[in-house]
Amino acid sequence: MPKGQGVPQHVAIIMDGNGRWAKRRLLPRSAGHRAGMERIAGIAEHLFSRGVRYLTLFALSTENLSRPKEEVDALFSLFREYFTEGLSRLKEKDVLVRAIGERELLPEDIRALIQSAEKETEGGKGGTLTLAIAYGGRQDILRAARSFVREGKEPTEEEFSARLSTAGLPAPDLLIRTGKEVRISNFLLFECAYAELYFSEKLFPDFSDEDIDRALEDYAARERRFGKV
Ligand code: IPE
Ligand code: IPE
Ligand code: MG
Repeated sequence: MPKGQGVPQHVAIIMDGNGRWAKRRLLPRSAGHRAGMERIAGIAEHLFSRGVRYLTLFALSTENLSRPKEEVDALFSLFREYFTEGLSRLKEKDVLVRAIGERELLPEDIRALIQSAEKETEGGKGGTLTLAIAYGGRQDILRAARSFVREGKEPTEEEFSARLSTAGLPAPDLLIRTGKEVRISNFLLFECAYAELYFSEKLFPDFSDEDIDRALEDYAARERRFGKV
């Protein structure tokens, strides 16, 4: 494989650091989550303008649901806003929006909002934005595994991938985590087997278009071998 990767087809981002962003400003954590949400459309537009076709964002993990009720409720309110007013900017750009995760863990009205957002943006050609909400990589793998056990079927790798919630998406080429931590925190465990990893110290609300370009440049200079020589 020649050195130099060009533009990644699929970028996944762990959007971390919202709480610390707020703390530094002596604001409640929810203010950091709002600032983070407000950054999503800009990041998506910038990546799609660079030729990236798929963006998958880790917005809420299954484990995050165990945070204090006040914070979880604030996050739910922000999702409500996001899937109503917040969506218009992405719709203007013809972005296809979908969500992955354990929907049964979300309030009924948010599930309905997600469903209608998916329907309204269906067939969008301006890039695919997948929001991972109440998502856990282990949980997703287990759910797929259990469904094969129920059927008494031994899946191939392709059949298994097709039952993950990311079915239909290519595997991420580049996984970015903002907010300084150097870990995966239960995101896309199966799918990121050969993703290039990029960690930024920037807190998510501060992650700028220039920061994105730096990550893309870094990726472009890498040599992917997929275990081969
Ligand atoms: C990431 O920001 C967004 C969610 C997990 C919902 P955090 O809330 O984890 O922010 P920090 O890591 O505490 O700064
Ligand atoms: C990962 O961030 C989950 C999301 C960004 C949605 P966390 O803040 O929950 O991860 P840990 O707890 O630092 O590993
Ligand atoms: Mg965090």
